[in-house]
Amino acid sequence: MTRQATVRHLLMCRPHHFDVRYSINPWMEPEDGADNPLAVRQWVQLRELYKELGHKVEEIDPVEGLPDMVFAANGATVVGGKVLGARFRYPERAAEGPAYLSWFREQGWADLLDPEYVNEGEGDYLLVGDRLLAGTGFRTDPRSHAEAEAFLGVPVTPLHLVNPRFYHLDTALAVLSDTEVMYYPAAFSPESREVLERLYPDALLATDGDAEVFGLNAFSDGLNVVLPKAAERLAAELAARGFNPVGVDLSELLKAGGSVKCCTQELRDS
Ligand code: ARG
Repeated sequence: MTRQATVRHLLMCRPHHFDVRYSINPWMEPEDGADNPLAVRQWVQLRELYKELGHKVEEIDPVEGLPDMVFAANGATVVGGKVLGARFRYPERAAEGPAYLSWFREQGWADLLDPEYVNEGEGDYLLVGDRLLAGTGFRTDPRSHAEAEAFLGVPVTPLHLVNPRFYHLDTALAVLSDTEVMYYPAAFSPESREVLERLYPDALLATDGDAEVFGLNAFSDGLNVVLPKAAERLAAELAARGFNPVGVDLSELLKAGGSVKCCTQELRDS
């Protein structure tokens, strides 16, 4: 099978104020903190890689006092030019929702929704073809699913997350193409596993080891799959399926429970 990359429009946020100062997921150890300059260097490598791959990268200004704002995926969900704003579960990140919405307004995006229910953007909403997979269990309120479906105009398939280490859908499942995903079955409830097996019978299944190094927190353009470099087994499986895996080191961001995909929001203009 010959695979083809399509050019993506991405939004990122430099980790200028990044740190681990509070704990809202099991990866975060505030006593240990994080090396901010190293986080910035690693993030710059990811941004430059996207540019080398031909993608268009926009940047939102980081806001002081919002150490997790680097995780741009959480800032909104953009489908067909419509911007579903985010509403964060924890007060520590609450101000990020309006900050991202303001950016969209300033950039001239007109079709926006300031949501009623908690949803953490593309952390829990992942578009596969024209179906929106929707994680819930730790962050996004299940009532947000109907709100997303009505506003974005795409069918929403709820998936229930059960392991606190994989608290966002994008830590347990990655979209590889319009029809293909890879995921970590143990992160989902038995019912949701059945849904995934039915929708994607040929999906690439991740092992405990792949998931523990955040291998599922990956970005695919249809050919190139950018993922944490420690996910070597997963990379080999992707190569065997005709993808071009590209490993990156985002060790400092992993201390906050995030990696490649968390840093990357896709702006689907049309
Ligand atoms: N510390 C952040 C949080 O717990 C990490 C967010 C990671 N983002 C993601 N898309 N999974 O909210």
